[in-house]
Amino acid sequence: MKIYILMGVSGVGKTTLGKMLASEMNIPFHDADDFHSAQNIEKMSHGIPLTDEDRADWLQNLKNAIHKWGKDDGAVLACSALKEKYRKFLAESNDQVVWIYLYETYDVILQRLKERKNHYFKPDLLKSQFDTLEKPDYGIHIKVDAQPQNTFNKIMNHLKYPEIGLVGLGVMGKSLALNMASKGIPVSVFNREVKGKEEGVAKDFAENHQDVYDFPWFDDLEKFVKSLPAPRNIFLMVNAGKAVDYVIDEILPFLEVGDLLIDGGNSHYTDTNRRAQYLNDKGILFLGTGVSGGEDGALKGPSIMPGGDKKAYDRIGAALEAISAKDSNGDPCCAFIGPQSSGHFVKMLHNGIEYGEMQLISEFYHLMRFGLKYSPEKISQIYAKWNKEQDSFLLEISVEILKFKENGELLLDQILDVAGQKGTGGWSSIAALDLGVSFDTISAAVMARNISADKTMRLEASDIYAHKEHEINISEEELFKAYKAASIINHAVGFELLRAASTEFDWNLNYSEIARIWTNGCIIKSQLMKDLSEMLEDHGSVHILLNKEIAKKVNENKNSLSFVVGKALEAEYPMQVSSSALNYFLGLSSSQSSANMIQAQRDFFGAHTYERKDKSRGEFFHTDWTKIS
Ligand code: 6PG
Repeated sequence: MKIYILMGVSGVGKTTLGKMLASEMNIPFHDADDFHSAQNIEKMSHGIPLTDEDRADWLQNLKNAIHKWGKDDGAVLACSALKEKYRKFLAESNDQVVWIYLYETYDVILQRLKERKNHYFKPDLLKSQFDTLEKPDYGIHIKVDAQPQNTFNKIMNHLKYPEIGLVGLGVMGKSLALNMASKGIPVSVFNREVKGKEEGVAKDFAENHQDVYDFPWFDDLEKFVKSLPAPRNIFLMVNAGKAVDYVIDEILPFLEVGDLLIDGGNSHYTDTNRRAQYLNDKGILFLGTGVSGGEDGALKGPSIMPGGDKKAYDRIGAALEAISAKDSNGDPCCAFIGPQSSGHFVKMLHNGIEYGEMQLISEFYHLMRFGLKYSPEKISQIYAKWNKEQDSFLLEISVEILKFKENGELLLDQILDVAGQKGTGGWSSIAALDLGVSFDTISAAVMARNISADKTMRLEASDIYAHKEHEINISEEELFKAYKAASIINHAVGFELLRAASTEFDWNLNYSEIARIWTNGCIIKSQLMKDLSEMLEDHGSVHILLNKEIAKKVNENKNSLSFVVGKALEAEYPMQVSSSALNYFLGLSSSQSSANMIQAQRDFFGAHTYERKDKSRGEFFHTDWTKIS
């Protein structure tokens, strides 16, 4: 059983806190002072420091006791254990010793000792204790608060959550570190030093927050890793891509078998598989973890999608769940997604849906602004009205964007109409092609960003073709219904990729659970996501658009989508995602497609064969098309 040893100089609060801990855990408390000989007590009461010789019997008695308690129910021990050799000696008798190092400055403790009555320790001895103290570079380190209860809470959090080392104090890394600390998760931080670029980042971060949190900080990777108790849990918040491989290679020499690396960036899922294999061969655990919600989410509670080794999740899951957003039932928006790179794949697809939703909102804005000649304020109001039903984060921020002024002018009008992208939308489109999945809305959203990118060429083409967007008239109700239909179809397109990946990679993904952890904290949270989390089967095998409740909603709105897309295209407004949604829907719901013509052509020019309506599936035929019957 475990032995919790609270160590540190006299006056730091070992006995008070030890008793609290023992009572909480319902195990016996012991004070190492009770194991001193009468001679030692006599010496100390006269202010005479103990020598190593004086301590030898005392340490042996303690060691024997620790061994015995370990065989019983475990125990809490208050013991100064100031020197490393004492600690090493004591821990030899039990491999389940948990060291809890309590610390404060000399001045603060001296003050406390002066206030203390009926204790044989003389405050003058404190100086010698500080001189003797060899701070452990392992165990749980707790700065003691004036209020024992606060210190006790800190200890309990340390015992409840594993200690986390966080690498990379960019915007997301800082927010996550603060989020962890606010939940009582012990977190140390590391940031590299790069002259002129990243100087004193970790130190400044720790110092800026020292009034509220204790962040042990490091700019030396080896010291950082060694400061963490093994098995270590190290959260990487570095830019996706080569930087992740670079950091892994840098950190690897300091890791030990059983340590865990968590990649919280938007890594490509195939990279995650490669890294997991590479680390696995070295006995290092790896969790490819999607984190959504931007800076604010990371700080207040993101949606978290960890995938990889379940053993690793069992170790770190409680901490990830603690920092995640909570759904409407108060449950964490974090769940183990599945094996291998499933966490990063699911995050990639999240971003794919995000691309589709963003483009949809942008298309409808553009149509209303220039086709219907609505003012930005009016569109903002319309989106606010829609959002009473939709409860979508992306609509919510669009309401604000349409109101935001800079020097009295709408900032939106000053922003160049060229979309950036970091890759996740494109990656999900490539994955869809690889898996043979129709990905109309999301790939159309990527294409819309791509075509926006060459502004010069667009201007030239606009001149050549005298492009003119015409005024049109569509009711607000039709627009809203069309938007709703397209949004549902975009989500259905996204979830189809998850179904294909789950089958192909044998991930057994739980779609209802994935939708649930996307109901809060992430960029695509919405009422629709809440509905999907309830409507979807856990590991369902049915297309979302075949779900009866969804089909009812689509049926109510699909004609408006056709109407709006038709009108908009006729009036020369690009509607990439809306029209793709419609095409996807029509392609899916047409009992007779045009593919018989494709098959005939393929067989005509390449003898690729075809199946027949009047024969069983799987039987293939070829015709010599030159012989007209
Ligand atoms: C999130 C976001 C986040 C990031 C996108 C932006 O879930 O928090 O999706 O991951 O904002 O990666 O991607 P683009 O730069 O490609 O638009």
